Amino acid sequence: KRPAGAPDKSLARPVTKVGIVGAGLMASQLALLFVRRLEVPVVLTDLDQERVDKGVAYVHGEIDKLHAKGRIGQDKANRHKALVSGAIDKGEVFADADFVIEAVFEEMSVKKSVFADVEKVVSPECILATNTSSLSITEMAADLEHPERVVGFHFFNPVAVMPLLEIVKGGATDDATLATAFATGKALKKTTILVKDSPSFIVNRLLGRFMGEVGRIVDEGTPVPVVDGAFAGVAPMPPHQLLALVGPAIALHNVETLERAFPDRFYVSPALERVVAARKTSYYGPDGALDPEVEALLETP
Ligand code: 3HC
Repeated sequence: KRPAGAPDKSLARPVTKVGIVGAGLMASQLALLFVRRLEVPVVLTDLDQERVDKGVAYVHGEIDKLHAKGRIGQDKANRHKALVSGAIDKGEVFADADFVIEAVFEEMSVKKSVFADVEKVVSPECILATNTSSLSITEMAADLEHPERVVGFHFFNPVAVMPLLEIVKGGATDDATLATAFATGKALKKTTILVKDSPSFIVNRLLGRFMGEVGRIVDEGTPVPVVDGAFAGVAPMPPHQLLALVGPAIALHNVETLERAFPDRFYVSPALERVVAARKTSYYGPDGALDPEVEALLETP
């Protein structure tokens, strides 16, 4: 059954090579998914060789783990590993890509400059997808020569496990781009939904309200372990583990974007701001107990 709002699949173009801008954890998870499901060459790119190498090593490591668990045979593991490569210079490696996805820092100016750079080296039909979790697709595409090939392609953490993919149609996105996005999402074995180009789309907008209330309860003095304990058996993951999974900085950015777009409806927690300012990435230590430094940050307005 065709997902609501998806154009006819006959409009979809084939995807024979994928370029990924960024080689961080999200980008590397995307590389793993694309190579496993599409079985086409996937190139990770980043600003320096160390990051690129780390990204490729992550994908190779995860493929090895799948093989060790008996989930894929040695031949397939070798084939998938050989399809993943990394580069700093996008020029040559992106020239014959037909699907490029960016997963760089969540900042409009950074994403716009990435797309402007990529547009110089890819064909006019190459899809430019963004994994942005909150920013406007229309604005991101606005200064490009071919804004009609830009589409939102928003995955959830952990990418390998979460079934949903939000596909976002920007103001200029054409039907061939959208059809290719839906066909690619299906090939990736994700559940695709078309969402409006509005701040944080659907899931993160809902999560923004939920996490705002979590922040409010903590700011009102309830300890983090008590809030998280309240969720045992109710949700798949306690709220602060979810925050750690998403990354407190991304969660804060999400709620700030929402607060700007819908004033008075979202709560930017001062405790979350303090945790992000201190560059903490998690609330809990490896032993599962609340990190004492985080505890101090939470209790010190
Ligand atoms: N990476 C890859 N695979 C993972 C993983 C990870 N980080 N964590 C778990 N898995 C896999 C496991 O290997 C296992 O696979 P298997 O069954 O094939 O062996 C499977 O997931 C289940 O894992 P577990 O049994 O260990 O753990 P759980 O049953 O507790 O499930 C979970 C783990 C699926 C992550 C579950 O806790 C969950 O659904 N949590 C909520 C996640 C969520 O809400 N994500 C959305 C965040 S919002 C977001 O990402 C938006 C963005 O814009 C910021």
